[in-house]
Amino acid sequence: MKRTTAGLVCAGSVVMVAAAFAFGQPRNNPPVDPQHSIEVAQQVPADVGRMLSRACMDCHSYETRWPWYARIAPMSLLVERDVERSRRALNFSEWTVGAGKRPGTALGALMASCVAVQSGRMPLRPYRMLHKDAHLSAAEKTAFCSWATDTATHYRRPSTVARAH
Ligand code: HEC
Repeated sequence: MKRTTAGLVCAGSVVMVAAAFAFGQPRNNPPVDPQHSIEVAQQVPADVGRMLSRACMDCHSYETRWPWYARIAPMSLLVERDVERSRRALNFSEWTVGAGKRPGTALGALMASCVAVQSGRMPLRPYRMLHKDAHLSAAEKTAFCSWATDTATHYRRPSTVARAH
């Protein structure tokens, strides 16, 4: 009897997962306006651009490559929530109308990105574990940070720069 119940529960779960997969909607991204991207406002060297695509853009942009498990509950809910929160925190697809609009915010976002990458807080650990190509070498982190800090200085107000010299 017990075994039958376990078998039924097991078969039930398989059916439910299959159903969730079959009926789960593929996720869509909002349209990307190339005029809003960070590349319009700042120079992004090819290696930094590639690193951003590999390790950040699935969450911090409208160019999310949704994984297959984003169609299955409850993973779909977790992935969706993460992407929503990340885009709200920082969206590279909306740079010129978001963080990049105000010098203080832009500077803060770039410096925070450097710190997050150096400390290993970003990309988030579960994502890193599922995406081997999101692993960043020490050299890549250094290259990213030197670009980010350099770019951040472009957002310093002239008076601040003058005082610093
Ligand atoms: C799997 C999704 C995911 C990836 C990939 C990811 N982030 Fe995040 N990021 C988040 C979430 C969620 C938040 C907001 C909540 C938080 O701070 O934990 C966030 C917040 C941030 C913030 C806001 C300030 C802070 O430190 O909390 C910065 C800056 C940031 N991420 C930079 C990056 C950079 C740079 C990369 C790529 C190297 C990256 N993130 C990759 C999910 C992600």
